[in-house]
Amino acid sequence: MQLPGYDKAKGGDLGTIRIENVSAHNVRPEKALLRRRLSHAVCAQIKPVWCSGTRPLVLQLRERCAEKQPQNRCGMRWATGCSATAGRVCRSNSSDALDRHRKILRARQLQMSNYEKVKAQLQSAPKTWLITGVAGFIGSNLLEALLGLGQRVIGLDNFSTGKRQNLDQVKARVTPEQWANFRLIEADICDLAACNEACRNVDYVLHEAALGSVPRSIEDPLATHRSNVTGFINMLEAARQAGVSRFIYASSSAVYGDDPGLPKREDKVGRPLSPYAATKVVNEIYAGVYARVFGLHTIGLRYFNVFGPRQDPAGPYAAVIPRWIAAMLRDEPVHIYGDGETSRDFCHIENIVHANLLAATTTNPEALNQIYNIAVGERTTLNELFQIISRLVHRRCPGLTERRPVYRDFRTGDVRHSLADISKAQLLLGYEPVYRLERGLELALDWYAQNIV
Ligand SMILES: NC(=O)c1ccc[n+]([C@@H]2O[C@H](COP(=O)([O-])OP(=O)(O)OC[C@H]3O[C@@H](n4cnc5c(N)ncnc54)[C@H](O)[C@@H]3O)[C@@H](O)[C@H]2O)c1
Repeated sequence: MQLPGYDKAKGGDLGTIRIENVSAHNVRPEKALLRRRLSHAVCAQIKPVWCSGTRPLVLQLRERCAEKQPQNRCGMRWATGCSATAGRVCRSNSSDALDRHRKILRARQLQMSNYEKVKAQLQSAPKTWLITGVAGFIGSNLLEALLGLGQRVIGLDNFSTGKRQNLDQVKARVTPEQWANFRLIEADICDLAACNEACRNVDYVLHEAALGSVPRSIEDPLATHRSNVTGFINMLEAARQAGVSRFIYASSSAVYGDDPGLPKREDKVGRPLSPYAATKVVNEIYAGVYARVFGLHTIGLRYFNVFGPRQDPAGPYAAVIPRWIAAMLRDEPVHIYGDGETSRDFCHIENIVHANLLAATTTNPEALNQIYNIAVGERTTLNELFQIISRLVHRRCPGLTERRPVYRDFRTGDVRHSLADISKAQLLLGYEPVYRLERGLELALDWYAQNIV
């Protein structure tokens, strides 16, 4: 693909990226994000030149003189006129990367219709789903989406970290007829008989039950192992014996461990840095074995930091976004572990719901028995996150005290940087994140403002 105005021998203009929906309040994070992306992406020859004062923002890209580069290692995956989320650059050679870029653009164009198609199919021919961990943050959001589509859902939970209020909230958000399609089994996945009962006559399993949190797993590795490994193989076994069509399970970006490479690609993981990460690695190994040995159709979704309504802000193991939102809304100080330059790929729950439904219903044989990164593909440091949340909270509640964060020691087991390459999920599942960080935070904030203050 030749961009207009680009002469490879001389270097020069590569073209422009337009960033839509830029308003006065998000212009700075947008710029910072693109700068980070471009520099992160080993794309030293790309120099961003900002054309100020334009709405939407236009980023002009120039390439330094071509002779200075030993070879063009940069595969551009963006093109003139595409949005900021398309501004990702990969490390493979140009033609591979451009080919991949075209496929992703095609997949992206199809994505909304893909997801709409999946919804329409499910509505016209409802299925029976089992959601383990249904009373938790992710499980209850999956439940709400599926009941809303008229599906029959069995939920399994032992309420170790899940909450009955989460189910009450779902009940309040669906019709009585839709709620009547839900059956709860209160049990532990370490009990194989309960897993067998739950899997009976089920089409799709969405396995979310696990003990999350790196620090919890360091304090009590055996408890994490029981739920996350013993419980996991019980669920695989029950699903196999019941002959379910798909077994979709929650893995985690924690499996990348000490591998420093960015962005994270599915085929390159490091050594796990916590018992929690080790359990997720074992999950992926067992799912692969059940696929190869028993022909069970499994798909692992490596979630990167998920956030959204019903994520618990309380307790020592709470995730950073709900903890900070709750602290700010209560006018309390916010603590940052480390120097705040730790970064994460934060992903709104709606993206996770889409990924699960697409994975469960995909008709692409190549998409089966695979593992996918599920994230947005954008990296935000904790310091940046603090600024964004602080701005949104103070816009909503101007009376609150404007505080600076309180820095504490780094925590053992936390990885330093995390950023997903989501192109595999885009290509094979037709996945596309629907909400990026800031919009997702606005939505989450609505829920926290109504529910925790
Ligand atoms: N939230 C994230 O950012 C994130 C990121 C990566 C992976 N994940 C994974 O996603 C899944 C869901 O996470 P979540 O954030 O919704 O956590 P959550 O704690 O809100 O939900 C987990 C649910 O599983 C239930 N559960 C735990 N152990 C169980 C057991 N032995 N038997 C039956 N039920 C049990 C809990 O009661 C809870 O309802 C987990 O597997 C987690 O490891 C989450």
